Amino acid sequence: MRRIVVTSALPYANGSIHLGHLVEYIQTDIWARSQKMSGNECVYICADDSHGTPIMLKAKELGITPEELIEKTYDEHVKDFKDFQIEFDNFHTTHSDENKEISQKIYQSLRDKGNIVSKEIEQFYDNEAKMFLPDRFIKGECPKCGAKDQYGDSCEECGATYSPTDVKNPISTVSNTTPVTKKTEHVFFQLSSYESFLKEWMQNNEIQKEIKNKLSEWLEGGLVDWDITRDKPYFGFEIPDLKDKYFYVWLDAPIGYIASHKNYCDKNKQNYLDDWKESSNTELYHFIGKDIAYFHGLFWPAMLEGAGMRKPNGVYCHGFLTIDGEKMSKSRGTFFNARTYLNHLLPDYLRYYFSSRLTNKIEDIDLNFDDFMTRVNSDLVGKIINIGSRCAKFINKDFDSKLSSEVGNEELIKSVLSRKEEIIQNYEARNYAANMRIISSLSDEVNKYLDDEKPWVKIKDDSTKGHVQTICSDGINGFKFIIGYLKPVLPEIANKVENLLNCDSITWSNIDNQLKDHKINAFVPLITRINRESIEKMKEENNKESAAAEDTDKITIDDFIKLDLRVAKIINAKELEESRKLLELEVDLGDETRTIFAGIKKSYSPDELIGKLVVVIANLKPRKMKFGTSNGMVLATQHDGDIIIIQPEKDVSPGSKIS
Ligand code: MSP
Ligand code: ZN
Repeated sequence: MRRIVVTSALPYANGSIHLGHLVEYIQTDIWARSQKMSGNECVYICADDSHGTPIMLKAKELGITPEELIEKTYDEHVKDFKDFQIEFDNFHTTHSDENKEISQKIYQSLRDKGNIVSKEIEQFYDNEAKMFLPDRFIKGECPKCGAKDQYGDSCEECGATYSPTDVKNPISTVSNTTPVTKKTEHVFFQLSSYESFLKEWMQNNEIQKEIKNKLSEWLEGGLVDWDITRDKPYFGFEIPDLKDKYFYVWLDAPIGYIASHKNYCDKNKQNYLDDWKESSNTELYHFIGKDIAYFHGLFWPAMLEGAGMRKPNGVYCHGFLTIDGEKMSKSRGTFFNARTYLNHLLPDYLRYYFSSRLTNKIEDIDLNFDDFMTRVNSDLVGKIINIGSRCAKFINKDFDSKLSSEVGNEELIKSVLSRKEEIIQNYEARNYAANMRIISSLSDEVNKYLDDEKPWVKIKDDSTKGHVQTICSDGINGFKFIIGYLKPVLPEIANKVENLLNCDSITWSNIDNQLKDHKINAFVPLITRINRESIEKMKEENNKESAAAEDTDKITIDDFIKLDLRVAKIINAKELEESRKLLELEVDLGDETRTIFAGIKKSYSPDELIGKLVVVIANLKPRKMKFGTSNGMVLATQHDGDIIIIQPEKDVSPGSKIS
């Protein structure tokens, strides 16, 4: 018996599970289930990845705390996984006591080894939002090709990667203002100390060729120190002994594998260190998508090595899901959430379809809805499941639900059973598509036998009627083996079949037991065909959802009309001693004068403002401040850290309406 810990990558807690994610969770789930059918002690571990800037900002946007957000998402994720029959042995969160403790411990080991260094760096800072900006929250022009509206780390037009401080005309997407650069002290993990270790680890463990090549490329290019710090405000774990500094989410995320496993061990009275100590015999495998190979192929094994812990035996990487040949896209309506799918279609369809497309290659896998419908309807429902209903009907009705004590076609039974080892091997090697092909051809063999023997004709003649029991018993046994082969893919259907056949739970060791002289239960429908309408309805719901999502960042003309924007003349301006930012303005709005406090002190002196025309929002609710009540707002923009007020292009009379 092997002891195995297997993981899927931890989904971010700022979004819903979508069909792309499910490629990975279904792939891992099938693998773990097959291991369990072998009698191996296999523990499938996962968790929500609950830290980082996007989660902090999303919570802010929703007006809730990050803790509330991750709790809500956790419940949603757990339900989605359950409904897709993903059977984790433990699903935890990285925002946990276990994770905090282990992350700090590992960090301390790395520091004790001298692998942690401090450096002062320059980073973009958003003065408005009062935070340092991760690369993804900077947009601007590509320094190589000049393409507009590119992210702070890479250009989608020319593929260049660069540092955010090289971006031209950078804008913070958090506040839409120009960020400034600011110095900050960060700590780094010296990855270069692990170069020879990584080379060796990579060669001696199960890493796909393509990933090995990529890792080698990175190793050749020289390993740079990895910045593991983020400044406050951040949602994560504070770094011990450093004030207002947090661990970067990618430091504590993979440690979340250990933490979730520890949480499992604590519940089951085991010691997690038995599986994570350097000398552990437990096997460890990570299933991941191709986008995160860098983290799992370099940082993670190096961290484990530095902490004196065991390393993964394999990192199994898969490609990305495309829909009808294209990248999933919200605007094209091809970004399907798990729940939207479940509202219209059965999880078994997708589990079967993904299996028919999954190999151990890193190629992308495509969900084409026509192909999806054909494969499920003709192979799974029409061919495989149909064997059961064809045979069980006769056994139930004409033979008092009893299977024959004899085998009619030894050859057929032998032929179906002969593929068992190959099928187990294919599951282990993640060649699920090959298994679905074998299973389909075995179903053809059984169906052909039934077609040749014609039980529906033989049942009508007393001299051949007895023979039908044997023919259909062969069919039922063939069906049992085939459903057994499919059990990792379709666990719930397999359970229904076990009930129907009144047999033990199928494992790889008992699958070949034949049912003879054995009473079965009444047939129940196992699965229906996909109808096109359900797919259309799912697409419709998705379009409505994405339209609604898009609408929330857009306003209607009615929203705009609500704003009473007017030209006003500044007739008086004065400084407020107690305020670093504000000036007190008196403005003429044509039929009235008003007091407005404006945060423009750093860029304007009162004298230069008097007599200027500005734009104000006239119908803003009055706001009580320390110095008095502000009755409106002056519009301004920012440039190079300066505040610049907005003025009409020609002289107009105060009070003119802007529309
Ligand atoms: N939180 C990190 C992983 C941390 S692991 C210590 C993360 N989260 S994720 O939610 O973006 O992705 C989770 C997994 O789903 C990743 O392995 C990712 O590659 C995979 N997929 C996300 N979108 C996918 C597709 N469209 N297709 C296939 N897999 C995809 O990365
Ligand atoms: Zn470019």
